[in-house]
Amino acid sequence: MKKVGVAILGLGVVGGGTYQILTEHREFYQRTQNVDIVVESVLELNRERTRALGVPSDKIASNIAEIVSDPDVSIVVEVIGGVEAAREYVLAALNAGKTVVTSNKELFCKYSHELERAAKRQNAGLYFEASCVGGVPIIRTLLDGVQANKISSMMGIINGTTNYILTKMTNEGTSYEESLREAQQLGYAEADPTADVEGFDAAYKLSILASLAFHTKVPFTKVFREGISGVSKEDIADAKELGYILKLLAIGKQSDAGIEVRVHPTFVRKDHPLASVNDSFNAVFLTGDSVGDVMLYGRGAGALPTGSAIVSDIIYAATHSENKYSTFKNTANADKDTNFISDFKSAYYMRLTVEDKAGFLAKIATVFGKHNISLVELLQKPGKAEDGKVPLVLVTHETHEMSIRKAVAKINSMEGVAHVDTVLRVVS
Ligand code: HSE
Repeated sequence: MKKVGVAILGLGVVGGGTYQILTEHREFYQRTQNVDIVVESVLELNRERTRALGVPSDKIASNIAEIVSDPDVSIVVEVIGGVEAAREYVLAALNAGKTVVTSNKELFCKYSHELERAAKRQNAGLYFEASCVGGVPIIRTLLDGVQANKISSMMGIINGTTNYILTKMTNEGTSYEESLREAQQLGYAEADPTADVEGFDAAYKLSILASLAFHTKVPFTKVFREGISGVSKEDIADAKELGYILKLLAIGKQSDAGIEVRVHPTFVRKDHPLASVNDSFNAVFLTGDSVGDVMLYGRGAGALPTGSAIVSDIIYAATHSENKYSTFKNTANADKDTNFISDFKSAYYMRLTVEDKAGFLAKIATVFGKHNISLVELLQKPGKAEDGKVPLVLVTHETHEMSIRKAVAKINSMEGVAHVDTVLRVVS
């Protein structure tokens, strides 16, 4: 039976899960995949982690050079995170002809061209299923399941931390701050939650997924990004009242006009399949020209779910003699001829605070009319009688992002408008 040696760089949450799956399932893979996958070495300075997993001391390497020069190691798993050290280690492994399996979305997103070039030069593999949506096999699906299709759109909840926070705000009526604190206590959100709550994590993933779905390099810098830190209890309550659920969506679309990619909090109609994806679960909804709609659902993070994606990549690499590379032109400036649409179309929800005066609703409606924006709903909500101000809530039909921005600027400058509190996009 073919024996394949693996080295794991980093035994944190994902590295630990990977080690556990590989050691517990070794015999299962011998039987079902006809391959003996052996963890030959790990690179982890924290002895508590190696002890907790029962890693034998002769399998603990002291530096990357020991791993890349080890002839028994043919696959290197990079799960240390961060960019600079990870990039150096991954390049060292690829340059030594080792296949690399990584969960590092930021690294792959920013340097996929450099890594792929190094891999191809040495005829090594480069696999990254675990970089997007944890245990949900979305990359394999795009490469090997729906490749017969022209994909016109993908829409997903691809960050578990923000989905946990928004679900808690929706179900329990808690504030953003309180929900974030709980997500941190449960280990979903980091002490510095910026990457998740400001949408960076989802934008890295969307850049990778859109590149694969649309066969065109979609750089991270082209992704429109807005996080959830400004979402209020009132927005969540309005969503419910109007028949929506608020979710952080990643949206990618391709048409003859170009490609649009965006991550932002979104009102999703409550009967849409993505509206019932709750807590830390993730889901991606794809539309292909032959298959129609496909939805994948599962855990987007965690030791064993993400370990599952890594080990599936290891098994693929260990059982195939030909490597599989990205299906888009993967060079540093491969996107230079692509039109990325920034003035995309969407419906919008808006909440503003105005003076409670006769004729004000009509004035607001006139501004929208002048910008060619048609309204679906316009409601005045009860305000506090003592300050004479009332909240107005409205939902528009589909219009252009730039038209909304112009209308908001105009409304903000109108006498009698205290402030536009929120503008959020709506998927119907
Ligand atoms: N922090 C991410 C999430 C998981 O909350 O979904 C890793 O990408």
